[in-house]
Amino acid sequence: MSGNDAPLPPAWPEIWPEGQKLERWRDPNIVVTQFADHAAYHPQLMEAVLARTEDASIAHAYEQSDGVGSFKLFDLPSWGVPAAQLVHDRALQMFRRVFKTGDVHVDLSWASVYGPGDHVLPHSHPRTYAGVVYMLEPGDPPTEESGMFLFADARMPICCREEPGYMSTPCAPLLAPGMMIMFPGQAVHCVTPYLGTRPRITLSWNLNREEVPGEPLRPATRPPGQA
Ligand SMILES: [Fe+2]
Repeated sequence: MSGNDAPLPPAWPEIWPEGQKLERWRDPNIVVTQFADHAAYHPQLMEAVLARTEDASIAHAYEQSDGVGSFKLFDLPSWGVPAAQLVHDRALQMFRRVFKTGDVHVDLSWASVYGPGDHVLPHSHPRTYAGVVYMLEPGDPPTEESGMFLFADARMPICCREEPGYMSTPCAPLLAPGMMIMFPGQAVHCVTPYLGTRPRITLSWNLNREEVPGEPLRPATRPPGQA
């Protein structure tokens, strides 16, 4: 199922469950939360992502250059899939709660599907006050060498354990299924080469308090299989 007719499971989760905790990670500007009810909606979300990944009519893209990046599936609400809408709403609600505001604008949202060898070089997110990443499927068992989402930013003390201002220790929480992390759009981060074979899948959002003028930045798109 991948359309508007997708039925809701009997116990459909709340957007923000009672008692859902927001926790500061080891950097004061980074917040994480773990959704314990992810088993209720991950199967529908997985099916929706994988169906679109195999659909040549949907634009795919590499984020940076040939062979560097991952498949991208943009605009999560447009899928018409309740599970995608739920996680989208959760990301927006996280922004509202962390910044104590009712105002949130989505500049861009997308799913990233990593296959063997896919990785993302260090980058930050222009046009973005806060970026959000949600772990749907880590793929084959994540290790410190495979498919690790890492911050590598000299402005983050946790990345500069040798000497302040000198980035020497990339680090990030291990992203488990159902985990959502929010970080400044300027924070430099990367994803190490994924060494597994099952797809590794994350969802992402670029969020602001207000709409940013101009067009959201998208990587150049091309259908799967084309160089
Ligand atoms: Fe990123």
